[in-house]
Amino acid sequence: MKLLEVKGLTKKFAGLVANDSLDLEIDQGEIVGLIGPNGSGKTTFFNCICGVYPVTKGSVRFEGREITNFPAHKICKGGIARTFQLVNTLMNMTALENVMVGAFCRTTNTNRAREIAEELLEFSGLPEKKDILGSDLTIADKKRLEVARALATKPRLLLLDEAMAGLNPTEQKEAVELIRRIQREGITLLVVEHVMQVIMPLCERLVVLDAGKKIAADVPERIANDERVIKAYLGERYYAKRATLRSE
Ligand SMILES: Nc1ncnc2c1ncn2[C@@H]1O[C@H](COP(=O)(O)OP(=O)(O)O)[C@@H](O)[C@H]1O
Ligand SMILES: [Mg+2]
Repeated sequence: MKLLEVKGLTKKFAGLVANDSLDLEIDQGEIVGLIGPNGSGKTTFFNCICGVYPVTKGSVRFEGREITNFPAHKICKGGIARTFQLVNTLMNMTALENVMVGAFCRTTNTNRAREIAEELLEFSGLPEKKDILGSDLTIADKKRLEVARALATKPRLLLLDEAMAGLNPTEQKEAVELIRRIQREGITLLVVEHVMQVIMPLCERLVVLDAGKKIAADVPERIANDERVIKAYLGERYYAKRATLRSE
């Protein structure tokens, strides 16, 4: 049985087809990367899986059970957690309290929620930040806090939406270590990321979206040499890099 099985998922916003009949299967224990240019539909795909948006067509099954269009809190309780591309830190709460919010998905006991949150701040490399207000954390720490809060809901599948955007190379390396630690805990991951040097070695498989359609799905080495992918995504990024170098 597949852990996640998405079939023909289509999401339309008025006339725009943000996700066009997407199929995706993920096995327990995998790290799968979801890549593609801005606006290609990656975040929308997450939102459809997690019950943030109702799907226009298609189905989502998790652990063999139909979850299409279930409300977001049910999907979270059912074992799928996600982070947000634009961090959703609760600014007036401490780091510990932010993670406790996630833990309350599993327990109504405040002391137990605190224990879970403390464990996960430790696991995510933030133990000394627990009493700091959300608003006072650096972007790298806010990103980690998002991951810790998602983990506090005890997911079996974790969706990370650009968890490394805006991080410097050292912070990126730490983020990769955290993702590997999460995998070792037995949690399956679907990861949206733009930094190719990070995503290529991290993922066993990559799925590429362009204008809402899946244009390729393969192991990273083959994706890096796929002509359609280079044209739609990688090429554009290489050109952008060259342009910045020239203007420096
Ligand atoms: N809530 C929304 N209402 C209308 N259009 C949306 C909405 N969310 C996303 N879109 C559109 O759907 C397309 C895919 O967006 P998105 O999923 O955010 O892409 P990505 O995450 O790959 O950058 C874009 O054209 C975007 O403008
Ligand atoms: Mg996005």
